[in-house]
Amino acid sequence: MALNRTASASLQLMSRFSLLFVVTVTFSGHSLAQGTIRYDAAKQIWQISTGEMTYAIGVNDQHALQTMYWGRRLEGASAMTTPRAYPETASFDPPVSTTPLEYAGWGGGLTTEPALKISFPDGNRSLVLDYVDEERTAGPGGEQLEIRLKDRLAEVYVHLFYKVYPQGILARWSVIENRTKASLTIERAASATLNLPPSTHYEMNWLTGRWGAEWQLHTAAIQAGHTVLESRRGSTGHQTNPWFAIGQAGETTEEAGPVWFGELGWSGSWQIDLEQTDSRRVKITGGYNPFDFAYPLTAGQALTTPVFYAGYTGKGRGEASRILHRFQREEILPGAPRPKLRPIIYNSWEATEFNVNEAGQLALAEKAASIGVERMVIDDGWFGQRKNDHAGLGDWYVNQEKFPHGLKPVIDRVHQLGMDFGIWVEPEMVNPDSDLYRKHPEWAMNFPGRPRTEARNQLVLNLAREDVKAYVLAFLDKLVTENDIAFLKWDYNRNWSEPGWDSAAPAEQKEIYVRYVDNLYSVLSELRRRHPKLEIESCSGGGGRVDLGILKRTEEVWPSDNTDALDRLSIQDGFSHAYTPGIMVAWVTDVPNFLDKRSIPLEFRFLVAMSGALGIGSDVTKWNADETALAQRMVAFYKTVRPTVQQGSLYRLVSPEGSEQSAVEYVGQDGRQAVAFAYLHSQHYGEPFQTVRLAGLDGAATYRVKALDAAKAARLPEEMTGNELMGMGISLRLAGDYDATAIVVEKLTQ
Ligand code: GLA
Repeated sequence: MALNRTASASLQLMSRFSLLFVVTVTFSGHSLAQGTIRYDAAKQIWQISTGEMTYAIGVNDQHALQTMYWGRRLEGASAMTTPRAYPETASFDPPVSTTPLEYAGWGGGLTTEPALKISFPDGNRSLVLDYVDEERTAGPGGEQLEIRLKDRLAEVYVHLFYKVYPQGILARWSVIENRTKASLTIERAASATLNLPPSTHYEMNWLTGRWGAEWQLHTAAIQAGHTVLESRRGSTGHQTNPWFAIGQAGETTEEAGPVWFGELGWSGSWQIDLEQTDSRRVKITGGYNPFDFAYPLTAGQALTTPVFYAGYTGKGRGEASRILHRFQREEILPGAPRPKLRPIIYNSWEATEFNVNEAGQLALAEKAASIGVERMVIDDGWFGQRKNDHAGLGDWYVNQEKFPHGLKPVIDRVHQLGMDFGIWVEPEMVNPDSDLYRKHPEWAMNFPGRPRTEARNQLVLNLAREDVKAYVLAFLDKLVTENDIAFLKWDYNRNWSEPGWDSAAPAEQKEIYVRYVDNLYSVLSELRRRHPKLEIESCSGGGGRVDLGILKRTEEVWPSDNTDALDRLSIQDGFSHAYTPGIMVAWVTDVPNFLDKRSIPLEFRFLVAMSGALGIGSDVTKWNADETALAQRMVAFYKTVRPTVQQGSLYRLVSPEGSEQSAVEYVGQDGRQAVAFAYLHSQHYGEPFQTVRLAGLDGAATYRVKALDAAKAARLPEEMTGNELMGMGISLRLAGDYDATAIVVEKLTQ
């Protein structure tokens, strides 16, 4: 098998940078936002600072790389003393376990979570990683440190990368290189380990879910033992998102206190293991999921791990989210540092399901355009023999019964209406009832001779195969080349079941966990390269594939198939802890909602959807004159605050969790506009809505204050200072069930 391309490319890139940009980093001063790597050669300590954070590592007296510090930014000369390995605890926990190692091999008696576990061909499975050397480089995106480790005996090298981003984020990944003369097998490969100082008062947040109920935020004390966040499903998954935030119980709140946080950039099976060791340290190891993992490296080969991003703030969970949001906009998303604003989408799915056809879609498009929609998207059902979810996946030709003239007349009309055109695809899947499956049953992931477990009547194509990859890229390229398509909703509607790859050699079959995702990324990247204007949404039965890996290649995500506006308040709140609301597509849909059977007024539905990337999924042809006029007003209003919502700083003023009332605010990047949305789920005892105190404003500045609906904000002064808006706040007259409104403030003075 060929040398892992990702690995060799990244090693080459690294050495190119070293030649061109080797810099001497001094202990001189720097501004707070700047990222720097300072190296004290005498003590062998690296101090990496960015934003509010310093992260320090050093080489100890046993030649191992250990974490010295992760927390509040340190300035000036360091008081850190030369690193020393920690002593063993009695005879049971050796120094490799008691010392907070940066990247521990399984060996030397390690009893805590290893970052790397290797099996050598002679059965040897011991690995002790010693420090070799280091290199600091400055590339276009910021400073980078590479530390090389090597097994004490074997020619196995580990390259640890530390890239500093100015937003306060440290990116870490590793490259494991086999320079021995024989093959070996990697059984566990983490991107990085992050160590926190000893404390029994840590409390963590994490996000779990399932289909229709994603982004549920949890808070719990970190206790002795392991908490494992993971997906074994072959993709990111709905069940847990690869994000965590850790605070101090009793100290960390939304707006204050320390938060250590991290996010993994990988769209395959992943794991973040949070371990409170028996010496009460918290050790966080993240990367490939070791479950069912085996990656053989022949002589000369290397494996690159996903990137694990980490940050720290002393300003609470809200600031941790804002750092992530800004980082995603400026460094991760396509178009970074200035990703395009999300257009207002109309999507046909909830209105028509599989019953799409030329006349019906055109009727929806005409009405949508009159409301102010900017992009018309035909969802599932337009291709092959796709009448329902039993057939058609894999056959990506236009269904002639539904679109007798092809897609062209629809697309042309959509353009005449002033919108661009998008379409749904599910490229990685196949229905057994399809021409593709009849021709290539061997392309479906399976264990030969074993049952092929179907989900939604479909199987997963083995994208790790080069022929499958070529097929997927070719049909997508053809579709986008032959039709004027601005946008793909890229869906992925099931998990893996039998992850077999029978055309590969038995020892290489488990590479599927890595190669599938590498090929997915490469198809997305190549498609985008060939069609630079194409935009893509990552959807997986809702929010099943949202992570920093896919987000490098997709502009937006569909957070959940659950479009009930009440559930959406919680879903969107949870989502905002880990991802920017600018990518969070939110549709207004019909009531009673298909899932919860709840009927919520249209204005409330609009105001909930407006707190992300607004879209519409209702059967708009059925809206009466009043509903249409309301929708037009809401869409026009959204356009006036869209940059603030999608690219501003988000403040969760009142969380919807366990509360009948909630409020969220966005402050525009240049600070000139802020918008707050307030929601009342149900009024009790005639109680007034709580005062809404804004945040993130310039206290001394004067703002013009405008209510979306004057009747809901009685006695609102026309002008208020930032301090008044943040101190006295705003009184709203929200009453009854499902009442909501918005307030916009515009800065008048500099
Ligand atoms: C998934 C998506 C939906 C819709 C359907 C179509 O469930 O999340 O939005 O596209 O597939 O089959």
